[in-house]
Amino acid sequence: MLSVKNLYKKYKQAEHASVDDLSFEFEKGRIVGLLGPNGAGKTTTISIICGLIGQFEGEVKVLGCDIKKEAALIKSKISVVPQQIALYPSLSCQENLLYYGNLLEIDGRILKEVITRYLEEFGLKDHALKQIKHYSGGMKRRANIIASLLNNPQLLILDEPTAGVDVHSRSMILNYLKKYNEAGNSVIYTSHLLEEAESICHEVLIIDNGKKVVQGEPSKLIGQYQTQNLQEVFIKLTGHQVRD
Ligand SMILES: Nc1ncnc2c1ncn2[C@@H]1O[C@H](COP(=O)(O)OP(=O)(O)OP(=O)(O)O)[C@@H](O)[C@H]1O
Ligand SMILES: [Mg+2]
Repeated sequence: MLSVKNLYKKYKQAEHASVDDLSFEFEKGRIVGLLGPNGAGKTTTISIICGLIGQFEGEVKVLGCDIKKEAALIKSKISVVPQQIALYPSLSCQENLLYYGNLLEIDGRILKEVITRYLEEFGLKDHALKQIKHYSGGMKRRANIIASLLNNPQLLILDEPTAGVDVHSRSMILNYLKKYNEAGNSVIYTSHLLEEAESICHEVLIIDNGKKVVQGEPSKLIGQYQTQNLQEVFIKLTGHQVRD
């Protein structure tokens, strides 16, 4: 599903590299957690994988295709749910979804069916015509996810999809990700909620200061580091220092 070799990215104005010689691989059909403290390089890594950042060193292959050579093909098969809500606040949810669907050139009739199905699935059917600026945090997150599902991606990459949402929205989002994965699709997601990652991920990759710290199945890592849970593994490996 994904192969990253010696990935290196330093932003123009930055003193240090944000991703520094990072290499890892993920198999298809898994839910994978990309974890790390604030500023670890998660969003930068995701942005490179989905083609939003084009200037980097190293090799990235998504679904067997090189991101530098076949970005357009990859973009048609994957989708990203960004850390920031990427919806127009003054448009309704339905208008936003129609807008994104039209950009993706999805057939009008199919698009309407897909939107209706997802609005129902994510509990937004009765709020479809409400402006996004009047949505709660959880509703915005759910609508943001629907926008990324419209092209029926094989790989869904989500950057903190459950940040700032209540337990009900979180549970709905996580249940959907499990269902989507059970249908044969792959998921990469970032989160600071390690209990959540432990419960949903088949595998996690912990990074810090742009470098790989460890990769493995949560239960195996917990055993290997003789801890009670993934959070203890995380603290054991990344330390207690607060990040700026
Ligand atoms: N556009 C940019 N220009 C310069 N530096 C950047 C830029 N974007 C990110 N950085 C820096 O790169 C490093 C990694 O940032 P990144 O956003 O990838 O981390 P993150 O793991 O997603 O953090 P968080 O958990 O806070 O979302 C940080 O030191 C950040 O300040
Ligand atoms: Mg981030």
